[in-house]
Amino acid sequence: MSVFGNAVKYLNEGNVHVVISILNTDYVIRLIKEDGKMVKDMEIIHNSVSFVNFVMIPLLFGYYQYKEEIIKMTSEDILRLSENLFNVRPKHRRVKSNFSQFAIKAPNLTIISYDRENYCLEIKPKEGFMASNLSKCSKCYYCLKQVLKLQENEVINISGYCPLDLFSGERKRMRKALLNLIKNPQNNFKLFKDGNIIYNETSNVNNFEMLIRNMTPYNSLNIFLDIIIEILLGDGISDIIIKESSEKNDINPNTEKCYNDGHQLPTNCFLNQLLTLQKLSENINLDLVTKNDDFQYVLNLLKDMRELNINLINMDDQKKFFETIDPLYLAMISAVAKDCSIMICLSNETHELYPSITIKDKSLSYKMSVTDLEPKSIKSLAKRKTTEQKLIELYEKK
Ligand SMILES: *[C@@H]1O[C@H](CO)[C@@H](O)[C@H](O)[C@H]1NC(C)=O
Ligand SMILES: *[C@@H]1O[C@H](CO)[C@@H](O)[C@H](O)[C@H]1NC(C)=O
Ligand SMILES: *[C@@H]1O[C@H](CO)[C@@H](O)[C@H](O)[C@H]1NC(C)=O
Ligand SMILES: *[C@@H]1O[C@H](CO)[C@@H](O)[C@H](O)[C@H]1NC(C)=O
Ligand SMILES: *[C@@H]1O[C@H](CO)[C@@H](O)[C@H](O)[C@H]1NC(C)=O
Ligand SMILES: *[C@@H]1O[C@H](CO)[C@@H](O)[C@H](O)[C@H]1NC(C)=O
Ligand SMILES: [Zn+2]
Repeated sequence: MSVFGNAVKYLNEGNVHVVISILNTDYVIRLIKEDGKMVKDMEIIHNSVSFVNFVMIPLLFGYYQYKEEIIKMTSEDILRLSENLFNVRPKHRRVKSNFSQFAIKAPNLTIISYDRENYCLEIKPKEGFMASNLSKCSKCYYCLKQVLKLQENEVINISGYCPLDLFSGERKRMRKALLNLIKNPQNNFKLFKDGNIIYNETSNVNNFEMLIRNMTPYNSLNIFLDIIIEILLGDGISDIIIKESSEKNDINPNTEKCYNDGHQLPTNCFLNQLLTLQKLSENINLDLVTKNDDFQYVLNLLKDMRELNINLINMDDQKKFFETIDPLYLAMISAVAKDCSIMICLSNETHELYPSITIKDKSLSYKMSVTDLEPKSIKSLAKRKTTEQKLIELYEKK
């Protein structure tokens, strides 16, 4: 199997895409399943890629951290690929075995470079502030939802992780958040080595420290946590120097309430930008959302941006965007920001394309990116409202 001369590896698939990794490269390809109504789908795919590239990424980073690309393959290539992938795909998925000649090329966010040793931490931080509708419960959305999930047997243990700790900007509380994620990762925390999962919810928590000790330049959990915290408090492009903290790793007992005394995030830091986007939902009255157009809004949003001549890597344009764009679109951007994952890659040596981290006398490179930035359906707003009401009822019953 090969694409443009490189061997490929089947990774996974959903209803719409098959994801393959191109070996010995730094990118992945999402093949698009074809089922006849291609012209309409192409427009949706194109809009989805533009939404990621020109809305979410510049809003999060202030620069084009990466870009997804639509590529075109020859019909022979795609036919061969479809035949070759057939046997490695799950049986129930094989009913759709025709792929579009158009595919989405995206960087492999779990590695810095395929010829290095790469560790990558994936954090799905969820909603980092107290939603005004929930403040009467004194618990944030994530923590309330844990109670619901326990009741519905979706989780075995309530997580001690509170997003408000991670987004607090206080190193001590951020450390507590990370330790709680290690203790009970659910789907919010994963560690990869060279693209393969080595720690997730199925792993033994006692192994985590050992895994970290094997990561050549870091060798202690303390240093590892310091590195992650400094990257999250940084802007994603600056070099970082770490002085080992004297913090102990004991996890404080969980308190009943989620601390909600504001945050101390530096203005230009990545987490602050993510939080700002998440909070955009606070300005919209969901009762007014009657449109049921699913994804049509993406087209309208992109069109409005073109008409207003808005380029979101420009800070003045960002301001104009927030002031003029339909609050519904802002709520949809917020929904994506609340559900995305942060990918923090660490290489075992420096790489000229990426910023460095220096610990004592050792330097290495890091790369921070964000994944799961595809637009969500308008329906997700209604779903959020329903869940929110359920959580409030649950709280009031107790
Ligand atoms: C899939 O491709 C085959 C071969 O090109 C073609 O005969 C068939 O009609 C296609 N099916 C769909 C659903 O497009
Ligand atoms: C980093 O990893 C690569 C690939 O595993 C290896 O060849 C290289 O020697 C390592 N560099 C250091 C400084 O350990
Ligand atoms: C998870 O819950 C089980 C039983 O409810 C308990 O035995 C176990 O100690 C809990 N684990 C953690 C990490 O809290
Ligand atoms: C990323 O690259 C690594 C190393 O080449 C590979 O093992 C992994 O499957 C790739 N992951 C994705 C999502 O493509
Ligand atoms: C967790 O990691 C194991 C391998 O360590 C893998 O087999 C499993 O699919 C992973 N589960 C999830 C939900 O990612
Ligand atoms: C808060 O709840 C009310 C009543 O359900 C709802 O109308 C409103 O849209 C919610 N606000 C937010 C920001 O979700
Ligand atoms: Zn909380």
